Amino acid sequence: MMSRSDQLILGIETSCDDTAAAIVSGGRLISSIVSSQPLHDRYGGVVPELASRDHQKNIVTVARTALREASVTLSDVDAIAVTYGPGLAGSLLVGLSFAKGLSASLGVPLVGVNHIEGHIYSVFIDEPSPPFPFLCLIVSGGHTMLVHVREEGQHEVLGTTRDDAAGEAFDKVAKMLGLPYPGGPQIDRLASQGNPEFHLFPRARLDGYDYSFSGVKTSMLYFLNGIPKVDRRRYLEDNMSDLCASFQSAVVEMIMDPLSRAARDTRIQAIALTGGVSANSGLRDAAATFCQDNGLDLYVPEPSYCMDNAAMIATAAHHMLAVVITSPLTLTADPAATLA
Ligand code: KG4
Ligand code: ZN
Repeated sequence: MMSRSDQLILGIETSCDDTAAAIVSGGRLISSIVSSQPLHDRYGGVVPELASRDHQKNIVTVARTALREASVTLSDVDAIAVTYGPGLAGSLLVGLSFAKGLSASLGVPLVGVNHIEGHIYSVFIDEPSPPFPFLCLIVSGGHTMLVHVREEGQHEVLGTTRDDAAGEAFDKVAKMLGLPYPGGPQIDRLASQGNPEFHLFPRARLDGYDYSFSGVKTSMLYFLNGIPKVDRRRYLEDNMSDLCASFQSAVVEMIMDPLSRAARDTRIQAIALTGGVSANSGLRDAAATFCQDNGLDLYVPEPSYCMDNAAMIATAAHHMLAVVITSPLTLTADPAATLA
């Protein structure tokens, strides 16, 4: 009989605008497919109604491709893992209903995975994975969270954002600068050619480990509004990289401040960065320097696993199945799910 550690898991992720499926076998990632939805680019942000309709169109092909690339068929699948929340309600329902249908028809367990927990498990996709306990920073377009991961499945949320998510701040500021969506990678690219000391944007510093990015976003707006309209286009053309570098350095400092304080307060030995914004080169450099200076180990998944993907959902399920955590078919989508 197959031991739990050999189980072949099909993971499904549809919480936002990426339709994703992955196969994990015995804890090893065999295939990972992510279909992004470029249709949101022209609106400068994700349109929930369009996202869920696109998931409907994509989900079967994406799941089939993940199976084919892993050279397996549905009859080889031992469990179905799926994101149940947090995320966009309509988008979650597409993945969840698809996963439930597969689970019921194949007669295999369903494992509902919290999307944030999935991001935490993205550092377990590839070796080496961090030892417990570790601090995990999850920074994406939808979330900013600092989590003390004490043991497998045991987390304490130390801090969250009080307003915008880190990626949301990048995206909104990029929009103000006239850059295409999603703006994070654009700002990152331009910042590498600019002067971070060109303009000092104010840094928010809250008590505890919470984050706030709305102030720095608004200060960019005021800064741009201070330039006469007739000159603005020219000004942006001339100073774009410097503005990006200055904004990015403010955001990176604001992300690093609670993280470094928490690392010292918890006397932690390892830090993990996950979520789309952890692909940011300024953040990676700052975290690497902090870890090096303080003798800590840093774990950052490869960029494709930092973004939303199903490999992290199937990997989380592999760990959950090891302690026999499965979900009933009555599992419902929870757009505001918190990390238990
Ligand atoms: O994890 P993710 O794919 O989706 C969510 O769960 O939100 O993260 C997407 C976010 C977007 O806001 C995008 O602008 C940001 O991650 N992002 C970056 C970079 N790459 C992606 N932000 C800053 N620098 C980057 N290199
Ligand atoms: Zn995410």
